Amino acid sequence: MLKTSFFPRKLSSVPILNARGVGAIHIKASTTKMELAITRPDDWHLHLRDGELLEAVVPHSSYHFGRAIIMPNLKPPITTTAAAVAYRQSILKALPKNSDFTPLMTLYLTDTTSPSEIKLARESGVVFAVKLYPAGATTNSQDGVTDLFGKCLPVLEEMVNQNMPLLVHGEVTSPDVDVFDREKVFIDTVLSPLIQKFPQLKVVMEHITTKDAADFVQSCDERFVAATVTPQHLVLNRNSLFQGGLQPHNYCLPVLKREIHRQAIVSAVTSGSKRFFLGTDSAPHERSKKECPCGCAGIYNSPVALSVYAKVFEEAGALDKLEAFTSFNGPDFYGLPRNTSKITLRKTPWKVPTSFSFTWGDIVPMFAGETLEWLPSPL
Ligand code: DOR
Ligand code: ZN
Repeated sequence: MLKTSFFPRKLSSVPILNARGVGAIHIKASTTKMELAITRPDDWHLHLRDGELLEAVVPHSSYHFGRAIIMPNLKPPITTTAAAVAYRQSILKALPKNSDFTPLMTLYLTDTTSPSEIKLARESGVVFAVKLYPAGATTNSQDGVTDLFGKCLPVLEEMVNQNMPLLVHGEVTSPDVDVFDREKVFIDTVLSPLIQKFPQLKVVMEHITTKDAADFVQSCDERFVAATVTPQHLVLNRNSLFQGGLQPHNYCLPVLKREIHRQAIVSAVTSGSKRFFLGTDSAPHERSKKECPCGCAGIYNSPVALSVYAKVFEEAGALDKLEAFTSFNGPDFYGLPRNTSKITLRKTPWKVPTSFSFTWGDIVPMFAGETLEWLPSPL
């Protein structure tokens, strides 16, 4: 159970803003505030964990988002449909009363995943994708794939048959490759050959961090290849890892990159391209697992994600394209209906809590203690 209130608190001072009419989105503006009404967003990449950590974080995601693609990198990983069904039940149980949040489950691909497991997953109606973690790439990826173009070939063929998307953690793991180059090398040596071999496989390149990835996704067939983009890769560059000392709460994988990459990703998502959609990669770790000699990768951003995305689109002069990114491109790519309810984003300052306490520790969110400008709330 969370001891700290979850939801964004309004500050007393409200800035005076100029009215600005943008596109088809419903925007109300007065002398005191600007308000956007958008279709309820979904989160196409989310880590909810399990146990008390799950209970601590699920209220944040369910407050802001209608659905979320739930990552399977638990300990042990969710490698079967049966495990995904059970995990889904525990998520539903942890939801706040009256929440209609829908978890969209995924399977964790291994070298031994069988084609029949993909059939079961499709038949279950609750598994929507399969996640590829190259073994050793990130948190709990030790059981991930070591032989994609060998042992995994039959499974990939069955995924094409079942129209089951492959979600890709796009980094090579070789220690010889510089950590800042791992995404580009993955595109050249794994992703590009994979797409050539399986042009009908739906692939989402998750949490893209480089201009190389943004360009690559834009060069592909938009029916089959798309990408999720996190809040942190839109507003932070690698300097934020070292600003005034080591900043463990800005450490995630793939690691933050140079400013030119951040700018390229902002241009890609604010261009209005259908290929990019919201995926927070919100990845909570208890504070002591971040602030320690060998800290875990992952940024807890669910409480602030929508505020950050809105700021990015506003600063790019592209608020009219925000709703497609948050609420349309994802379901369209997955072949799912768009949400019908709405949320509002009000341009009013609110303070991010410094931490969220729960039964056995606390979680430090992205932008802890800072003031953000766009305040989301359900309509
Ligand atoms: O920063 C990350 N944290 N990247 C991932 O790929 C996994 C995630 C986690 O599960 O903590
Ligand atoms: Zn992730």
